Amino acid sequence: MSFYVTTPIYYVNAAPHLGHAYTSIAADVLARHHRQRGEDVFFLTGTDEHGEPVAIAAEEQGVSPLELADRNSQRFRDLMPLLDVSNDFFIRTTDPEHVRRVQEILVRVRENGYVYEGTYEGWFCPRCADFKTDAEIGPDHTCPIHKIPLIREREENYFFQLSAFQGELEKLFDENPDFVKPRHRFNEARSFLAGGLQDVSLTRPKLRWGVEVPWDRSQVFYVWFDALLNYVTALGFARGKQQDLTQEFWPATYHLIGKDILKFHTIYWPALLMAAGLEVPRHVFVHGFLLAPPTNPGDELEKMSKSRGNVIDPFKVIEDFGSDALRFYLLREVNFGHDGPVSEGGFLTRYETELANDYGNLASRTIAMIVRYRDGELGATELDAELIAEFEELPEIVAGHLDGAELTPALEEIWKRIRRLNRYVEEQAPWKLAKDPERAADLDRVLATLHEGIRVITVLLTPYLPAATEKLLAALGRPETAWEDVRCTSAPISVQPLEPLFPKR
Ligand code: MSP
Repeated sequence: MSFYVTTPIYYVNAAPHLGHAYTSIAADVLARHHRQRGEDVFFLTGTDEHGEPVAIAAEEQGVSPLELADRNSQRFRDLMPLLDVSNDFFIRTTDPEHVRRVQEILVRVRENGYVYEGTYEGWFCPRCADFKTDAEIGPDHTCPIHKIPLIREREENYFFQLSAFQGELEKLFDENPDFVKPRHRFNEARSFLAGGLQDVSLTRPKLRWGVEVPWDRSQVFYVWFDALLNYVTALGFARGKQQDLTQEFWPATYHLIGKDILKFHTIYWPALLMAAGLEVPRHVFVHGFLLAPPTNPGDELEKMSKSRGNVIDPFKVIEDFGSDALRFYLLREVNFGHDGPVSEGGFLTRYETELANDYGNLASRTIAMIVRYRDGELGATELDAELIAEFEELPEIVAGHLDGAELTPALEEIWKRIRRLNRYVEEQAPWKLAKDPERAADLDRVLATLHEGIRVITVLLTPYLPAATEKLLAALGRPETAWEDVRCTSAPISVQPLEPLFPKR
C-alpha cells in the first residue's frame, strides 16, 4: 500500500505563520499514522516561489526575487523540524528540476491541443495571483479576500482550454463523492463547476518572475500552473537521478489545502492533469481557517493572515510549550475541515486541562503507583475485561476516521478513552487496594489494566504527539509503536519513573 500526502506549497513573500503550520501538522499526522500502519508513505511540502506577490515583496525590500525566495524558503524549511513535521522532501518551485518538468508537461498539454493564443482582459488580485470572475469581485472592484483594489489587466497570452473539461470533471465529481472532502466543500466545488467553466490564462508576459514558456520566450507560466505541478514533479527528482517515485506514488492519496485555494485544486488541477494525460488525485481535503480575535473590538472573528498582522507566532508557542502542545491544540480546538477561533487563552486551557491533567497526570500517577506498590515490576496479569472491551475497537475507529482525514474526531475518540481511564482510577482507588494485602491480585489487575490502556492510547497518539509519546512509551517499558502494538496484552510490565510530560507553566 502506498500513501502520498501533500501540503500546499507556501508563498515566500512573507514569513511562516500558524496557518501554514496548521496544514503541515495535519499532513504530518496522516503521514505518521500511515507509516505506523506499515504503508509506504511519501509526504511532500515546500515553497511556491514564483509570481507577482514575491516579485513585489522583493522589490519593496530592495532584493532580487531569488534572494527573497532563498531567505524565506529557508524559514519554512526550518519550521518543519521545529513542528516535528516528518516530510520526505521539501520542494522549491525554483528547483531547476521542477522548472524543467513544468515546461515538459505544459508543452505536452499544448501538443494535446488544449492551449491557444488570445487576449485577456480582466480584474486581477496580485495577492491571490488570480483573475476574478464577475461573481468574485468585491465592492468598488476590490478583492473580497484581501480587501485591496483589483488591477485591470489586458494582455496577450496563452490560454488553457479549461472549458473542454466540463464534462469530464462533472463525471469525476459524480463518480467520486469522496474526491473533495468534507461534503460541504465537495458541494462548493460542484456548484462552481455547474456555473460553467471558462478558459483561463496559462501564461503571462515575461515582465514577471516565473517559469519561461518554451515555445514563446516572451511569456512565463501563470504561477498557479507552475505551483500545482509541484505535486507531480517532486516525485521525479526527490530521490535524485537514481529513483523516480512517480509510478509508486502518483496519483496522490490526499492533497490537504485551505478553503481559499479550493478552485485551483478541485477544478483547475484535475483538468490540467487530464489535459496532460495524467491521473487525477484520489482526494482533496479542504480545511477551514484558524480565526483570530478581531483587530477592532466588536468586529467579527477574522482570518489570521500575514497581510493583516493578526498572527500567532508558531515559533514562539513552540519555544514556550513545545511542538506537541501546538499540534494537539490546533487539531483538537478546531474541527479539521471547519473554521474555528484560536487564542492564547484557549491554548492554555487545553494545555492544562487536557494535556497536563487528563493525559500527563494519568500517566505519571499510574507509573508512580506501579513504582511505589510494585517496585516498577508486574508479572503477566489478567486485565480487567470490561474496561479493555472499550479499547478493543479503538484502533479501527481511529484508522477509519484518519482514512477520511478526520483528524479531530479521531482525536476525540482517543480522548474519550483517556477520560474513561481517569474515571477508572477514581472508581478502583488503587491507593485503597494497596492498603489491603488480601486484595493484592486486584491491585495488580488494576495497575496492569491502566498500564495497557495508557500504552495503547499512547501508541495511537504517536502521530499527534510524537515527542511526548516517545518519552512515555519508554517509561512504560514498551517503546514499540507499530500497528501490532495497539492491542492490550497481559505481558509482564517494567516501568521507569517519568518526569511530567506537560509541566505546569
Ligand atoms: N502558494 C499557494 C498554494 C499553492 S499550492 C499548489 C498559497 N500559499 S499560501 O502561503 O498563501 O497559503 C498556504 C496555505 O495556508 C493555504 O492552504 C491557506 O489556506 C493556508 N492558510 C493561510 N492562512 C490560514 C489560516 N488563517 N488558517 C488556516 N489556514 C490558512 O496559497
